[in-house]
Order: sequence, then C-alpha cells, then structure tokens
Amino acid sequence: MASHFFLRMVCALSIIHAANSFPTYGSLAGLSAAEIREIMPTLHRRAVEPPPGPMKDTSAKLVFDPAHPFIAPKSTDIRGPCPGLNTLASHGYLPRNGIATPAQIVNAVQEGFNMGNDLAIFVTYAAFLVDGNLITNLLSIGGKTSATGPDPPAPASVAGLNTHAVFEGDASTTRGDAFFGDNHSFNETLFDELTTFSNKFGAGFYNLSVAAEFRFQRIQDSIATNPQFSFISPRYFTAYAESVFPVVFFVDGRQSNGQLDMNVARGFFQTNTFPQGFFRSGTPIGISNIGAGIQEVFLPHPIAPGGNNGAVNTFTPNPNSADFTQFCKLYTDYVTNTVRGLYPTAEGPLLDALNANLNFLYQPLQGSGCPQVPAFT
Ligand code: HEM
Ligand SMILES: *[C@@H]1O[C@H](CO)[C@@H](O)[C@H](O)[C@H]1NC(C)=O
Ligand SMILES: *[C@@H]1O[C@H](CO)[C@@H](O)[C@H](O)[C@H]1NC(C)=O
Ligand SMILES: *[C@@H]1O[C@H](CO)[C@@H](O)[C@H](O)[C@H]1NC(C)=O
Repeated sequence: MASHFFLRMVCALSIIHAANSFPTYGSLAGLSAAEIREIMPTLHRRAVEPPPGPMKDTSAKLVFDPAHPFIAPKSTDIRGPCPGLNTLASHGYLPRNGIATPAQIVNAVQEGFNMGNDLAIFVTYAAFLVDGNLITNLLSIGGKTSATGPDPPAPASVAGLNTHAVFEGDASTTRGDAFFGDNHSFNETLFDELTTFSNKFGAGFYNLSVAAEFRFQRIQDSIATNPQFSFISPRYFTAYAESVFPVVFFVDGRQSNGQLDMNVARGFFQTNTFPQGFFRSGTPIGISNIGAGIQEVFLPHPIAPGGNNGAVNTFTPNPNSADFTQFCKLYTDYVTNTVRGLYPTAEGPLLDALNANLNFLYQPLQGSGCPQVPAFT
C-alpha cells in the first residue's frame, strides 16, 4: 500500500511538472484526455479572435522599409520550415520570437507578401488547428531555436509547424524528409539541385517550368530513398502549392514576371531576408491564383496521391486521398480525419475553441459549393 501510494505521488508530481513546463504555444493535438486535463489549468485562456479581413490597399509597395529591418534571430527565437513566415518574423512583420496568433499571421502574410485573404485564412487556420494552442491562441512557426542552429530536445507538442505528417511533409523543395532526421532546416545540397534545375529549365531563374520539373524530381527522389515516403492529402496539396509560392511571392511586385532570381531565392530560403528595396506583389495572390499555378506544375508530370509501403521504390497510389479534382474532399477529410483525429475527446473550452476555429477555416469556402462539416459535439 505504502509503495503504491508513493508511486502515485511520484506520478502526480511528474504530471504537475509536465503541466508547469508546458509552453503557452504547445499544441494540445494528439495528447490524451488525462494530459489535457492536467495542462488546461496552467494555460491562460484567450478569447478566440475572428480572422482579419482583406487589406484596403493591395498595391505593390516597399516592404523592406526602415520600420522592418532584417534582424537575425536570437538563440531563443523560433524559426521553422516555412521561408515565408521565417522572413516575416526576421523583418518584424511577425513577432521576432516566432510565436504568433493566427490573426497576426493572416495580417503579416497579407501586409508583407500580399497573400489574398482567402488563402491566408485557409492556410493559417489549417496549420493553427493542428500545430497551435487553441486555448492560448498561439502558434509557433517552428520547433527549433534558430534558422541554422541545432535542435533543442523537445517533445512533439512543441514542434509547432515542424510537426510531421499533419502540415509539414515530405518532398519539400529545400528541406529533407522527416525520415532522414531533419524536416525543416535549409539544405544546401537541395538548394544546389534547385539551382541546377533553374539553369537547365529557366535560364538561371526559378519559374513555373522549373517548378514543374523540380517538384517531379523531389517526388522521384523520395520514392527512391525514403521507405516511409507519404504523399497524400493534405501534404499532396501543400507540396504543389509551395512549389508555386516562390514564383508569386518572392519576385518583386514591380516586376511580377514569374522569373525568380536565384540569389533572391537563396535570401528567402536560407537567411530569411527580403532583398534590398523589396516590393511585395502588386495583386493579392489568392486560392484561385495558386490553383492556376498548380495546374502548370502538375500537368507536365501528373502523379496521383500515394506513398511507399515501407520499402523504397514501392510507390502505390492511395485512392482514399483527395486529389486536385476534389477540393471539397481536401477540406472535409482534413476536418473529419486529421483535425478530429488529433482531438478525439475534446470537451469544454477546448471543444468550443476547436469549433470556433473550424468555422474560421471554412470562411473562405463559403459560396464555393463545399458543404461545411457540422460542429463537433
Ligand atoms: C499563411 C500562413 C502560412 C503557413 C501556416 C505556412 C506553413 C508552411 C509549412 C508548415 C511549410 C513546410 C511544409 C514542408 O515543406 O514540409 C511551408 C513551406 C513553405 N512555405 Fe509557408 N506557410 C504560410 C505562408 C507562406 C507564405 C506567405 C509564403 C511565401 C511568401 C510561404 C512560402 C513557403 C514555401 C516556398 C515553402 C516550401 C519550402 C520548401 O519546400 O523548401 N509560406 N509553409
Ligand atoms: C521534425 O522535426 C522536429 C524538430 O526537430 C522533431 O521534433 C520532429 O520529431 C521531426 N519529425 C519527425 C517525424 O522526425
Ligand atoms: C541534404 O540533402 C541531401 C540530399 O537529400 C542529403 O544527402 C543530406 O544528408 C542532407 N544534408 C543535411 C545536412 O541534412
Ligand atoms: C521559364 O524560363 C524558360 C527559360 O527562359 C522559358 O523557356 C520558360 O517559358 C519559362 N517558363 C515560364 C512559365 O515562365
């Protein structure tokens, strides 16, 4: 009895310890009901805030201005797998520590890059729902302390946008697959390959023709080397979208010709800096623009969603995954399988926050003909 009591004491203490040290931006996704019950009282609850609307002035303008100097991240600042968000943090459009609310992210991607309101809301809330803290309303843009430094030992719950297989995924442009151990750092070998492709297919620039060839190459590379390669929705969609992003967001808005200089590309991908005097895009880039770009990247080498079966070169299509003919299924599966699967027992304030943020995710799809998944109970 005494030893049993002692054991329970030790257990209780270690849970209290875990709860006390749980970061305000740590995601509750995937935690057990018992863990969530212990952590909840330690979290400062913030009211859900509706996503910001579109900007009034969507013209091209100087965004590397005196109010937004580049400052390299401090050792305690968080950076992650997204060169867009990393750059916004290093220029102060996002909090420089890399921890932000979804509304701050929507505002920053609109202001700094002229991302359209529908795309900004859809991507931000899709990421926030699985990688952010729905109670404190905070999301970390990564899980490591600097763009180049080593990772601190950290539980999955604080990996932020690095969390594998929900939003982060395989066959990235300049980042390795999680299977190889580092799923978010800039990889020079991959950037050199990208440069080779830009020379071969873009006369030295990254454009949608290069994007089509390189996307296909990255998929072939993962098929041939990563036994656990997974390329199904939502990653299937984000991988193609992210191949388009540099063409529409990293090219100066006064130029907007879809030809990205590779030195400028390196600045964004590696050091997370705007080039001197950078102007953002001159038109908002929304879901329909990215959809058009994806077509150009996908059609030269169409590949169905699928994955390897535990061995290299075993790529098998997965007919259950949404593909480009099923945009509504992307949304519906994401909500019912991915998101709900990570919060199977949500109740009380967590359930309320979950449903509120799912409403925000759906907002850009209103009028699209995709029916909304009913609130969870
Ligand atoms: C709206 C909020 C955004 C969120 C939540 C987000 C999140 C992410 C995540 C999680 C990844 C990693 C995916 C992976 O490769 O496994 C990623 C990649 C990427 N993001 Fe973002 N992103 C956002 C906005 C942007 C913007 C505004 C840009 C461009 C200005 C951008 C450009 C990119 C690019 C180019 C990649 C691919 C990196 C690579 O494969 O090497 N993102 N993003
Ligand atoms: C991705 O990287 C993060 C941060 O290093 C790590 O916590 C996570 O486990 C990685 N994912 C996988 C599947 O390796
Ligand atoms: C970068 O990617 C290459 C090619 O996939 C790989 O061989 C190498 O180990 C990676 N480097 C690092 C530092 O992860
Ligand atoms: C990419 O650049 C190459 C070389 O200049 C050109 O032939 C091709 O049409 C360009 N593609 C796009 C989509 O701009």
